[in-house]
Amino acid sequence: MKALVLHREGGDVIPAIEDIDESMLPEGDVLIDVAYSSLNYKDGLAVTNKGKIVRGEFPFVPGIDLAGTVVESDSPKWEVGDNVILTGWGTGEDRWGGYAERARAKAEHLVRVPRGMTLKDAMLVGTAGFTAMLSVLAIEEMNVTPDMGSVVVTGASGGVGSTAVALLARAGYNVAASTGTASAHDYLRGLGASEIVDRSELAEVPSNPLSKGRWAGAVDSVGGSTLANIIAHTMRHGCIAACGLAGGHKLDTTVFPFILRGVVLYGIDSNTADLSSREVGWARLADAIQGGAFVGVEEVIGLDDVIAFSEKIVKGETRGRVVVKVGA
Ligand SMILES: NC(=O)c1ccc[n+]([C@@H]2O[C@H](COP(=O)([O-])OP(=O)(O)OC[C@H]3O[C@@H](n4cnc5c(N)ncnc54)[C@H](OP(=O)(O)O)[C@@H]3O)[C@@H](O)[C@H]2O)c1
Repeated sequence: MKALVLHREGGDVIPAIEDIDESMLPEGDVLIDVAYSSLNYKDGLAVTNKGKIVRGEFPFVPGIDLAGTVVESDSPKWEVGDNVILTGWGTGEDRWGGYAERARAKAEHLVRVPRGMTLKDAMLVGTAGFTAMLSVLAIEEMNVTPDMGSVVVTGASGGVGSTAVALLARAGYNVAASTGTASAHDYLRGLGASEIVDRSELAEVPSNPLSKGRWAGAVDSVGGSTLANIIAHTMRHGCIAACGLAGGHKLDTTVFPFILRGVVLYGIDSNTADLSSREVGWARLADAIQGGAFVGVEEVIGLDDVIAFSEKIVKGETRGRVVVKVGA
């Protein structure tokens, strides 16, 4: 089978497209014909060896997402022919991932592709879109309603950000899209953003930790000083879904917004999300797809293009979601 394989050579990690034997696949009770995978920021880091993403043994097949069809199953939960999604649970980090024509998975890690969603749609969403969905569910769970004020999305032109803009707009929120990509303004308005904020406006830690309330909610894929800025500008009882670190992992803030405004900082970890949140999230994503929410979000590439696109995604040069066509 064709695969993108990472080899460790000294301190380097070298990616290569190769034909490998299916017997090399790790253990698991379900064998899947992979139709599509996707390229996330984390995949870019893994392929370019810029972050310590891969914890499994080398040689290693990365790709944190996959969608495909079951071809063998030792589990009563899955039958040959079932269409399934695998995201998270260490896929592409400590277990082989989606950049190969076949994958072996644990039955309990798989989610059924919801009615109305194709395998390609599932990877248009992928981990980034599922993370955006969990972020929107968090904001809703914390009772932030559209009448309370705008919701800001940072890193808006990226995979998580683009999907979050579309999902929030669809749920009736006034969405402020924060971006550093001037060419993405029309695209973001097309997804439903009603306001564009230049990312430099939110880039500094404000001197006042309780600055004027500007947002009722936030989906933050940037972290660092941007997250500190947003926390200071969140209105009373607002909620920030903190899901990324594209701009940094340190957080310089105070407890004041939490204890004087009741602001909620809601951490999102899509990797270990439980099965019920996965089923709720994917069903809602299928609705959004059927409603045309993500039109224009994706770019489709082949397995051969993943190495070059990995360089692009870590430099912030991709837009929306990158879908990887793996199977024939
Ligand atoms: N918590 C989870 O479960 C989870 C799951 C998936 C992803 N993530 C994290 O979420 C983040 C986004 O992932 P993604 O797949 O959407 O990546 P992506 O497609 O590369 O998008 C990231 C976006 O962030 C903005 N950005 C990049 N560098 C920046 C910088 N130095 N300062 C400020 N903004 C910057 C850019 O948007 P603009 O040009 O529009 O500003 C970029 O498009 C990553 O940190 C990723 O690790 C977390």
